[in-house]
Amino acid sequence: QANERESMFLVSEYAQKFYEKTLWNTEPGKAIGLSYFKERGFTDQTIKKFGLGYNPDQWEAFTKAALGEGYKLDYLEKTGLTIVKEQQGQERKTFDRFKGRVMFPIHSMSGRVLGFGGRILTNDKKAAKYLNSPESEIYHKSKVLYGIYHAKQAIAKEDNCFLVEGYTDVIQMHQSGIANVVASSGTALTPEQIRLIHRLTKNITVLFDGDAAGLRASLRGVDLILEQGMNVKICTFPEGEDPDSFVKNNTEEDIAHYLKENAQDFIQFKTSLLAKEAANDPLKRADTVRDIVNSISKIPDQIKREIYVQECAKLMNVSEAVLYNTLAQINKKLV
Ligand code: CTP
Ligand code: MN
Ligand code: MN
Ligand code: MN
Ligand code: MN
Repeated sequence: QANERESMFLVSEYAQKFYEKTLWNTEPGKAIGLSYFKERGFTDQTIKKFGLGYNPDQWEAFTKAALGEGYKLDYLEKTGLTIVKEQQGQERKTFDRFKGRVMFPIHSMSGRVLGFGGRILTNDKKAAKYLNSPESEIYHKSKVLYGIYHAKQAIAKEDNCFLVEGYTDVIQMHQSGIANVVASSGTALTPEQIRLIHRLTKNITVLFDGDAAGLRASLRGVDLILEQGMNVKICTFPEGEDPDSFVKNNTEEDIAHYLKENAQDFIQFKTSLLAKEAANDPLKRADTVRDIVNSISKIPDQIKREIYVQECAKLMNVSEAVLYNTLAQINKKLV
C-alpha cells in the first residue's frame, strides 16, 4: 500500500530529526551522545552529514513526542520504532525500541530514511552492541547498504567501491576523505546488495576487520560478487583493527598507501590463504583446490577463468588439466 509506506517514511524521517535534535539540543544528548561521538573522533560536520542522533534513556521519550506531533501509533509500531505490548485485562503499554542509544539513520539510495542502527554506550557484554530496525514494508535489511546515499557519486567517479563491515567504518573513512564506501552492516552479503553497487561500478574492494573469525564466512559472500561478473579485491587489516580504527590512527597519505599495497586480487588472496592453512596435508590441499576452483567457476567471463586457472595451478602446484577437469565437474553439478 503506497499510503502506508509513505506514512512509514514520514514517521522515520520524524524520528531521525527527533534523535538528531535530542543529540544537539538537550543536556543528556550533549553530555552522553555527543561526547560519545566526539570520543570516537567524529567532527561536528561528520555527525551532521550522517544525521547521527541520540535517544534518551527513558521508556518512551520518542514515542510520546511522536504521538504528540500527531503521528499514528500504528506506523510507529510498523516501523518498529515503538514496541506495543497488549496484555489481557491490562492497559496497553508502549515503549521505545531504541532507548539510551546513539542512533545511525540508514538511508536508501535516494536519501530517504529506511531504518536505524542504535549503539549502546557502555561496554556491557550482555546487551547487544547494536540494535537495528526490524524488517518492515520500508526496511529490508538484505536490500540495503549502509552509506550508499552518501557514497554513490564517489563510487561512480572512482569506479570502485570499498565494502566494510560496520557503520563507524563508513563514517570514519568519509572523514578521512574516502567517500566511496558502504557497509553490509555485519550481515552476510546478498545478491541484492551487490546489485546496488553494480549499478555504479564493476569493481569492489572488500575491507575485512582484522579478526580471523569472520574471514572464512565472508569469503563465501565474495563468490556472490564474482557471480555478477564483478572484479573483487580484498584488503585485510592488522589483528584487532578495523577500517575505523586503522583510518583514525593514520594520515590520509598512509591510508592510501596501505590500501594500494595490501589490496589483493580475490582469487589470489583466497588461494594463498587456503594454501597456507592446508600446508602439506594432501587431503586438505585437495579440498582447497576444489574450493578455489569453485570460486573460479562463478566467474562468467571465460578468459578471466582461464587466467585464474593458470594462476591457481602455479600457486597450488597442480596441473591445469586437473583444474579444468574439476571445473567441468562443478559445472555439471550446477546444471
Ligand atoms: N552488528 C550488529 N549487531 C551487533 C554487532 C554488530 O548489527 N550486535 C553490525 C553493525 O552494523 C556493526 C557491524 O555489524 O557496525 C560490524 O560489527 P563490529 O565489527 O562488531 O562492530 P563495529 O562496526 O566495529 O562497531 P564499534 O566500532 O562501534 O564497536
Ligand atoms: Mn517492500
Ligand atoms: Mn568485526
Ligand atoms: Mn568492526
Ligand atoms: Mn569498530
